[in-house]
Formats: sequence, structure tokens, C-alpha cells
Amino acid sequence: MASARGEFSSRFGFIMAAAGSAVGLGNIWGFPTQAASNGGAAFLLVYLLLAFTLAYPALMAEIIIGRHAHANAVNALQRIAGGPVTRRLGATTGLVGLVVASFILSFYAIVAGWMIAHCLGSLAALVGADGIAAWLTFFSLGRNASFVVVFMLLTIGIIAEGVHDGIERWSSRLMPILLVTLGCLVLYVLTLDGAMEGLKVYLLPDFSAALSPQLIINALGSAFFSLSLGVGTMLIYGSYINDRENLPVVGGLVTGVDIGIAVLAGFLVLPAMYVALHNGVEIFDAAGGLISEDTLIFTVLPELFTSMGVAGAFVSLLFFFLMSIAALTSSISMLEVPVAYTIEEHGASRRSAVLLIGGIITAISLLILLNFETLFGLVVTATTRYSQPLLGFVFCIYAGWIWRRDQLLEELRKGSPEIAGTLFWRIWPWHVRLVCPLIIFGIFAQNLFG
Ligand code: PFF
Repeated sequence: MASARGEFSSRFGFIMAAAGSAVGLGNIWGFPTQAASNGGAAFLLVYLLLAFTLAYPALMAEIIIGRHAHANAVNALQRIAGGPVTRRLGATTGLVGLVVASFILSFYAIVAGWMIAHCLGSLAALVGADGIAAWLTFFSLGRNASFVVVFMLLTIGIIAEGVHDGIERWSSRLMPILLVTLGCLVLYVLTLDGAMEGLKVYLLPDFSAALSPQLIINALGSAFFSLSLGVGTMLIYGSYINDRENLPVVGGLVTGVDIGIAVLAGFLVLPAMYVALHNGVEIFDAAGGLISEDTLIFTVLPELFTSMGVAGAFVSLLFFFLMSIAALTSSISMLEVPVAYTIEEHGASRRSAVLLIGGIITAISLLILLNFETLFGLVVTATTRYSQPLLGFVFCIYAGWIWRRDQLLEELRKGSPEIAGTLFWRIWPWHVRLVCPLIIFGIFAQNLFG
């Protein structure tokens, strides 16, 4: 049954796909700049703590539920529910997750479009087509809309090919390219003047900044966003894993790759900012903090690349190429969530489901672009800061409380008969039942009422 609906052909294929989903703009852009402005290594410690104590167990909950049901989140959560109320709540959670995944993709496609435009802009500048380069790198509705469409077409094209020929094949091709590109960029930037200054900011801890409640909720949102949790992406990828695979190991590898690449990206972005400072580019905002988010990527870094001459044009090309790949391997996992649901629950063909849903999400992206000031930030905050951790909370409740314990343990034993007695076996079922929901709840309560 599982292979009729598509299956990853190997452990490597799954890890590339799931790590491809996890590693995205959140790692290469979000994590390093947040760390830089929020206590450097202290933020890194809070992030690592949350990643291992919360995000990894929550990731395991999704993968295990998915593999057990070999179905989309709506169906899977219903299947592990005991009674009518929990069945209905399960279906609702799956549906909300699917809507949130679609909204995340709608803003992600806008940002990813900017990355592709800047990548092509660097290429145009290299060959001397300055007019085209200026259009590609200047913020305009025409450019933004065009590249949303380009990016969505790439995403749709890959998802239309299915699990093995689309998701697995492309993730396995693109992820190694991403890693090599990132490694080369880090090595190059670290040789430049000023880079060591940036390393110090990244690696020296300032605990007063890292322990504020707002920061912890940001780190929680980042960890959930970074591991693509709460919206059913990891559940659907888990549903394509065969029953012989050892889940705690593959989940651990995916978490490790995700965190490793975020930390590695810090060795690129922070040193690059201080190289920019060394070259006379302003990197602090009016409040004295480091410039981050879009101003960093689209103003500070391009100014740095310009100040580096011809080498800068190549570095710029590589950097935006890296960002585009990272975005694409993540966006395909977002689109797969509503597509799998539509195929499995409504009997649609993959091709028509992809075209219909891809088309709707592109239309939402264009709507956001038309009302950019009002909608963009709103959609980002509502989906990533609040919806993802809250949905992740419900997934933990399903794995920890609603699913029958003997079935859950049976699922864990598949693919790893020797698991009983390991640390994971003894800790995780309790952890996902008590610790994860309590911490997520606690962080939210503190944020709302504290
Ligand atoms: N994990 C991706 C990143 O770090 O950029 C973002 C993401 C992918 C979020 C898939 C949610 C999702 F379902």
C-alpha cells in the first residue's frame, strides 16, 4: 500500500528530503542574524537546548505517526484517535496544518523569488547587462510578482513528479550542492579582513540577552520553523518511509544536519557583516543593533559584494544560488502537504492536485504582494510564531496521550527490534507526553500573561 502512494527508496533519500525541508531560509538567513542580535553564543545555547529537548521529540512524534498511518495528517491523526471527539479534533488539526503550510509557502515563495532574482541579477552584472541587473535587484511589484511565479513553477514542477522522481531525486541532487556551496563561501569569507571580529560576536555569549521571555519564544518559533514542524510536512515525509527504517536514528540525523547547517551559516553571515564593516558598509541600525532581516540580505550584503570587486560578483552569485536551492528543497515539502491530502482524500490525480493547489497558493502570494505592508508581516507572524508551535503541541498530545501506547511502541519497534532498553525508548514516550506539551504551554503562557 505504501509504495502505491510513493515511498523513499533509501535512507539517504529520506534524509536528503527531510533535511532539505528543514534546511532553508530559516537556517541560512534567520538563525545567524537572530543569534547575532540576541546574545551570540548564548542564543545558540538556548536554541540547541530547545532543538534537542523540544523540536527533536516533536519531529519524532510527526515521523512516527506518519509512518504508522502511511497517510496524510488528516487521515493519520484520525486513525490513531480512540473516539469520535478526538477523531474530529485530529481531522481539524490536520486541516489547519495544511492551511498553515500553504500560507507559509505563500510568503516563502515571495522571499525565494527575491533570492532567484538576486542570483540572476549577479549573473547579469557579471556579463555587463547593468540595466537588467538593476531591474532584477530593485524591489518592484513587477519583479516580485514575476519571480513568485517562477519559483512556484519550479516547486510545482518537482512536486508533479511525485515522491521518488520529484522530491527524493531533487533533494538528493540539490542538498549536496548546497553543502558544498556553503562550505566554500564560509572558507572564503573567513580569509577576509574583519571576519574574525564577526566570529567573536557570534561566539561570545551574552546571557542577559538570551534569557528574556520574548527571546525564548522567538527561539522556540525558530526551532519549530527550522525543523518544519506542526504543519504535517514531517508527518507526510514520515509516511513515505518504509517499515524497515530505524526512525529515532533517521530523525536524529535530520535534526543534526539542520542544526549543523544553521550553525555553519553563522560562520558565513556574521563574519561577512564585519567584513562589510571593515569595507566601510554600515551594519548597525539606528538603535545600535546589528542590521538584520531583509535589510541585511538585500542591502548590506550586496554592498559588501560590490565593495569586493569582481570576486564579489562571484560570491554574490554563489550566495543567492545557495539561498535559492535552500528555499526550493523546503518549498516542495510545504506543497506536498495539501497535495497529498487532496490526492488521498479526494481521489484527485497528482497532476491536477498540484496545478490546482499550486495555482491557489501563487494567487495568495500575489495578493500578499499587492498589500505587502499590511499582509506580509502578519502572515509570517501568525503562521510561524504562533501556529507552528501550537500545532506541534497538539501533535505531541496525540503521540503522548491519545494514541494507544502499545501501538506507538509497536511502531517504534518496526525497523529497530533492539530499541527496547535504549535511552530513546525509556525517555521519549514520557518526554513527548509530559515535557514537550508543558514547556510549549509554559512558554506561551509566559508570553501571553507574564
Ligand atoms: N524549515 C524551513 C526553513 O528553515 O527555512 C521552513 C519550513 C519548511 C517551514 C517547511 C515549514 C515547513 F512546513
